[in-house]
Amino acid sequence: MTRPRTPSSPRRPPRPPSTTPSPGGSAFDAPARTIHVHAASRYALRATDPDARALHVSVGAALCNLAAAAVHLGREPVVRLLPRPEVPDLLATVRLAGRPRAALLRRPDLYRAIWRRRSSRLPFSPEPVPGTVLAELTAAARLDGADLRRPDRHERTRLLDLTAEAERRSTTDPERRAETLACITDPKDTRGLPAYAIGPQDTAGQLPMRAFAGQQDGLVRQRAAFEPDPQLLLLTTGHDRRADWLRAGQALQHALLLLTLHGLRASMLHQALEWPDLRPRMAVTSPDRCAPQMLLRIGYGPAGYPTPRHHAAALFGQHDLQAAIAA
Ligand SMILES: Cc1cc2nc3c(=O)[nH]c(=O)nc-3n(C[C@H](O)[C@H](O)[C@H](O)COP(=O)(O)O)c2cc1C
Repeated sequence: MTRPRTPSSPRRPPRPPSTTPSPGGSAFDAPARTIHVHAASRYALRATDPDARALHVSVGAALCNLAAAAVHLGREPVVRLLPRPEVPDLLATVRLAGRPRAALLRRPDLYRAIWRRRSSRLPFSPEPVPGTVLAELTAAARLDGADLRRPDRHERTRLLDLTAEAERRSTTDPERRAETLACITDPKDTRGLPAYAIGPQDTAGQLPMRAFAGQQDGLVRQRAAFEPDPQLLLLTTGHDRRADWLRAGQALQHALLLLTLHGLRASMLHQALEWPDLRPRMAVTSPDRCAPQMLLRIGYGPAGYPTPRHHAAALFGQHDLQAAIAA
């Protein structure tokens, strides 16, 4: 697997993968009407995400947002993944072409959902997610080049057991613990997760919500009763290359935005995907044909706590931002 080049600044505190690229991640080429999306590799999690797979997933999610914004502005987003292999940090380009195809206008409200979507790490109700919504999500993921499926009861237990095992490891491994803990930042820091957004732990100890810290780290954890039979979705791709990770991110964000439009909530259970021996075991079919990329918990429930967002001008610079909007 190719790793994007990382600048040599290992002393910087690590930051969490965010659903938007970090400042400095993008630039606008006005004559070509093309946004260049670079990996902000200096924020990579070197112990938790050594291949930068999660970083690619998070940039893929940002690409989905960018495409929805282009459609909102009346432009067709022409996305090219990894357009220049000799520039590994250039993860994608998005050319703002003419009027969007009719297929892209089917969900014009996707853009609106970007502003409302956020993770909810709070308990959900047992009310089932309608089959029609699940079918819409599956179809959208397929268009993005990924598979989204609802595991059966037996698979669910297995996936949660693997997640619990990963959570145990991640909260005791000193290097990973330190990385995850560094993700918890001041609420004004747009690159981190404020402690208030983390949410409670399951009183029954059955749902392995990410603790983001070990017992010894002194983070006060609330407890609450979570849904006993969580509704899960497993996102996978047919292959496991860098482009697949980006596609997985696009499909992930697409699903999250659609869920938002349907009044549903979601949170991510990514822990088992961060351990090389556990990740293949998350596959529901042969690991050769199914690369697990994300486990989602979905349902009806309270909105999550808002987390800080980068301003677009911090990514592009004010001048490039105006040029991109006007393009
Ligand atoms: C690749 C990836 C892995 C993630 N893993 C987890 C996870 O295991 N647990 C969790 O609660 N959130 C996880 N998140 C969610 C981020 O923490 C969250 O999206 C970010 O803090 C911004 O908050 P928001 O979702 O409310 O906008 C993950 C996000 C990405 C992109």
